[in-house]
Amino acid sequence: MAKISSTDLLEQLKWRYAVKEFDSTKKIPSELVSALEDSLVLTPSSFGLQPWKFFIIEDQGIKDQLPAISWNQPQPKDCSHMVALAIKRNFAEADVARFIDCLAASRGVTVESLEGYKGFAGGFVAQGVSEGWIEHWSTHQVYIAIGQLMSSAALLGIDACPMEGIQADKYDEVLGLDGTEYHVVLGCALGYRSENDKYATMNKARFPKEEIVERR
Ligand SMILES: Cc1cc2nc3c(=O)[nH]c(=O)nc-3n(C[C@H](O)[C@H](O)[C@H](O)COP(=O)(O)O)c2cc1C
Repeated sequence: MAKISSTDLLEQLKWRYAVKEFDSTKKIPSELVSALEDSLVLTPSSFGLQPWKFFIIEDQGIKDQLPAISWNQPQPKDCSHMVALAIKRNFAEADVARFIDCLAASRGVTVESLEGYKGFAGGFVAQGVSEGWIEHWSTHQVYIAIGQLMSSAALLGIDACPMEGIQADKYDEVLGLDGTEYHVVLGCALGYRSENDKYATMNKARFPKEEIVERR
């Protein structure tokens, strides 16, 4: 039994668009912010390893600094909450071990019983470190999180703008992440659309379903 009708789902997905102009007077209620934070926590990741951290920026003083390091886009300043999605730098086998501890505790099993899984996931991560693609892999995982965040927001009637147009290194600086384990790779502004945002009523530009979806 579907929890939501396909009509309602598609209505919300069509209602969603990448907001260019937020109404800076409207704030997301705290319980909804909390639900969106939980949706980030619930994001699936490869092997379940969660190589990330999410910074939820509500402080106007911080938000005001962001357009200058976001290609002068106003959304980070005018939105209610700006999310900076970060990867964990130098993700390595120790992080796999930490996850295995979490998995064992969550499932009520011993760490020893997960040795096979640990070896498999650890081998994957070790290969990524030695071949230099581990940060790309971590970044891919963060993109799953932003997808989940945007869809969750849409279902809650909250607007969003995913933002690659940010100077990630400068975001690190503003958030005090230099020299820490985390590095921002992507942003997502959350809040409520301005009545003046002409993008809200523009038709979606998508290739025909027959061209991009094929049943076999
Ligand atoms: C990963 C990603 C990064 C994006 N970065 C920006 C951005 O920096 N600024 C912006 O205004 N829109 C950004 N967009 C929005 C896209 O341009 C938009 O999603 C696309 O044109 C489709 O339009 P729609 O989301 O309104 O349906 C981004 C979208 C994605 C998925």
